[in-house]
Amino acid sequence: MPYSTEDPAATELADVTTTRAAYDDIADLYADLFKHQLERQALDRAILAVFAESVADNGSGPVADLGCGPGRVTAHLATLGAEVFGIDLSARMVALARAEFPHLSFDQGSLEQLAIGSGALGGIVAWYSLIHIPPARVPRVLREFHRVLAAEGHVLLAFQTADLPDAVEAFDHKVTRAYRWAPKRLARLLTEAGFTMIARMVREPVPGERFGQAYLLASKVR
Ligand SMILES: C[S@@+](CC[C@H](N)C(=O)[O-])C[C@H]1O[C@@H](n2cnc3c(N)ncnc32)[C@H](O)[C@@H]1O
Repeated sequence: MPYSTEDPAATELADVTTTRAAYDDIADLYADLFKHQLERQALDRAILAVFAESVADNGSGPVADLGCGPGRVTAHLATLGAEVFGIDLSARMVALARAEFPHLSFDQGSLEQLAIGSGALGGIVAWYSLIHIPPARVPRVLREFHRVLAAEGHVLLAFQTADLPDAVEAFDHKVTRAYRWAPKRLARLLTEAGFTMIARMVREPVPGERFGQAYLLASKVR
């Protein structure tokens, strides 16, 4: 497995330990609940298809699904032709992903501690995982995403939207502390990290969701 993360336990912050424990506890239930969710969400599949096509077009390396959970998005991207692997904080999530998708590679690690060489990746997906990073730490994470992507590499973020047009706010996420972002605000951070924005999509909540859902697609032009 050429792409790993540094030993997360060495420098772990309290919120990271809490997030890992919460997802370890809920992993089996989460995997069951969301197993077929992409099949019901044409818009989610649409933006993932655009991302997969963009990555295939530049052909500059594999895709990392950071915060992959039980691997449903990782596996979906693989069916779209992407060379993709997953990384997740939760050991139980990684175990479930490996069991369900034994043909794909999953490892435990933190998206905040990527031991990945500069320019090594063709794409990064953070599908409802960046939501657990305290906002003050997000600019550094995005700069690291930029570093590990090759030129023309793409990043795709999915997250719940904040109510106000330029806000980031903590919300009562069912698993552990999380943050909703105004798409404009997170897009600005992507730009400040060196990315060029390609697309912003916001969809209305479907039954069972409380908030609008946002998707940001950006690329590294240098
Ligand atoms: C809401 S779930 C989404 C999982 C998956 N992307 C999906 O859509 O099914 C959030 C995931 O992010 C992971 N996560 C949270 N913080 C992380 C971090 N710092 N590094 C890696 N994974 C993280 C959690 O363990 C959890 O599996």
